[in-house]
Amino acid sequence: MRILSKISEAREAIQRLKSQGKTIGFVPTMGFLHEGHLSLVRASRRATDTTVVSVFVNPTQFGPNEDFKEYPRDLERDAGLLHKEGVSLLFAPDAEEIYPKGYKTYVEVHELQDKLCGRSRPGHFRGVCTVVLKLFNILKPDISFFGQKDAQQAIILKRMVKDLDLEVKIEVLPIVRDRDGLALSSRNTYLKPEERGAALSLSKSLKEAEEMIKKGERRAQFIIERIRSIIEKEPLAKIDYVEIVDKEELNPLEIIEDEALIALAVFIRKVRLIDNLMVKV
Ligand code: PAJ
Repeated sequence: MRILSKISEAREAIQRLKSQGKTIGFVPTMGFLHEGHLSLVRASRRATDTTVVSVFVNPTQFGPNEDFKEYPRDLERDAGLLHKEGVSLLFAPDAEEIYPKGYKTYVEVHELQDKLCGRSRPGHFRGVCTVVLKLFNILKPDISFFGQKDAQQAIILKRMVKDLDLEVKIEVLPIVRDRDGLALSSRNTYLKPEERGAALSLSKSLKEAEEMIKKGERRAQFIIERIRSIIEKEPLAKIDYVEIVDKEELNPLEIIEDEALIALAVFIRKVRLIDNLMVKV
């Protein structure tokens, strides 16, 4: 596996692969890899000839009071894991390489970027879209793989690809969870044992929502109240939002008629966690 940090080197490597007729699968990450990330890598390995992974903690998607500085980083460990998975190229640029002095151009997906997580993280999706478009331009993937864990991110990036006529195909893979139900996240490393216990209320509440829907409940507000009451039992948990929305426009639904996204964000003390459930009735 080659580890490259310069755009020019990455472009050269990609050009060589393309000239050999190889298809390219791409998994963008911010590193500190876990089984969720690796599930995307494996999907890419199955579907394409060459898998490229990026590890870049993208400063533009963090708010001024967010955890950019503390975000866990361990490139050596990440490289070891990716090497074992048969990844061909690891692109790990530094911030200066992606945003050199004088950088001025940003990509926004209007409306969608302001909903759900966008409401409490203004500018977040602008940062995500900008870096992902840049990475697409540098690495020219045929298919790029994302996790359902960040449901809004996947929906927004699909819209960006459609609206800007990008040639890449976006694949979205299911949420990988720990045995206790907690959705894997690099941010879980912040959780102290008692906080981890409280964090289980996210997945527990979604499981309960799933059961309610299975039994025929369709009223969104009723389901939301039940989710909130489960999470609010945890003294360490503070709800940012719980919403049931349609999966195209992310608008709130009153009644679940066919497909719906149940999405939530909760602070466990200072750690903000997200989880979601896609339902079909
Ligand atoms: P990061 O949080 O590192 O996640 C990288 C990819 O892994 C995303 O597509 C995310 O949805 C997926 N992922 C994370 N946890 C997962 C889980 N438990 N199960 C399945 N997939 C999971 O998302 C980002 O980085 C950044 O915003 C990025 C797209 C790299 C742009 O900077």
